[in-house]
Amino acid sequence: MLDRYGRRIHYLRVSVTDRCNLRCVYCMPQQGVEWVAHSAVLSYEQLLRLVGLLARLGVDKVRLTGGEPLVRRDLAQLVRGIRSVEGIQSVSLTTNGVLLKQQLPGLMEAGLSGVNLSLDTLDRAQYAAITRRDALDDALQGLEAALAAPGLSVKLNCVPMGENDAQLVPLAALARDRDLAVRFIELMPIGLGSTLSRRSEAEVLQRLEAAYGPAAPAGRGDGAGPGRYVTFAGFAGRVGFISAMTHQFCGDCNRVRLTATGFLKTCLQYEQGADLKALMEAGADDRTLLAAMERAILEKPACHHFSEGRSLGDEGKTMNQIGG
Ligand code: GTP
Ligand code: 5AD
Ligand code: SF4
Repeated sequence: MLDRYGRRIHYLRVSVTDRCNLRCVYCMPQQGVEWVAHSAVLSYEQLLRLVGLLARLGVDKVRLTGGEPLVRRDLAQLVRGIRSVEGIQSVSLTTNGVLLKQQLPGLMEAGLSGVNLSLDTLDRAQYAAITRRDALDDALQGLEAALAAPGLSVKLNCVPMGENDAQLVPLAALARDRDLAVRFIELMPIGLGSTLSRRSEAEVLQRLEAAYGPAAPAGRGDGAGPGRYVTFAGFAGRVGFISAMTHQFCGDCNRVRLTATGFLKTCLQYEQGADLKALMEAGADDRTLLAAMERAILEKPACHHFSEGRSLGDEGKTMNQIGG
């Protein structure tokens, strides 16, 4: 369906849990946050009902996020369920990869289309400092498993934050040696993101060009997301940029989010949307739910206002509560 600015909304990001096995500095405080009670989280049955209705409104791509989606029990069962919803063409996962190696066979069998894996550094001590867990080896094994899985689209997400400056060139090298998309994401001032330093796309590109020569444009990639891609001479894969701060992409936005607690959230920075879980639990029929979804999508905000430092509602929430 189209929103009031004519944007076609067909991409749903579903946060399946706010819990996580890491504590990345830009996402959660060291001591963690108070987790949402299990009873407040959508059941798979509720989730599948909502995905089925959103598919009737035109959603054809689903991405599962968290927290860390792989800490939710039987995720493969959910992937299988979503794959069988009429109209859904792909189901992907954004994960830190720590639990991926062991779960990938089941996920592949369930029909997983792609994996985006968060990795901010290849240095073990730095990884432990950024994520506050000594889990680099597990994440790398997850990455290897994903790269070995036939037909799986694999992308890597790195958030440059100053601390990992020396890692940008080595991380990009992964796309030189393998057919992989390595993406650099401008830190957004959401939750703890506003307390850290960031590097812009231009700053990252400058470092990469110093190492690998001039970048050549390489399109929008295989995802339906905001990444823009370049490549360098001799690279097997591509390097991408997701630059919400210096290249705002809201005009092309195609997505809505479903939070772990069943709120249809129509923009990252706003609390606007519809409490679909509350409606379901009050006994709403499909028509009522569809009407609430349509109303929320129609009212989707035009754009974020991160750069102006304006408060619009949800920027104080931590990323694990929003779903990334
Ligand atoms: P694909 O292109 O399908 O691979 O998806 P994606 O790149 O959108 O997904 P991913 O979960 O890997 O997200 C990468 C980064 O983009 C994360 O930092 C997200 O927070 C950010 N992102 C995703 N959607 C939006 C959005 O609607 N607005 C903004 N500003 N950032 C987003
Ligand atoms: N700004 C940009 N990206 C962020 N992520 C988490 N917090 C932020 C933020 N404040 C990234 C993670 C993960 C993806 C889902 O979102 O690194 O790759
Ligand atoms: Fe977990 Fe992702 Fe947040 Fe890191 S960014 S703490 S991996 S949810």
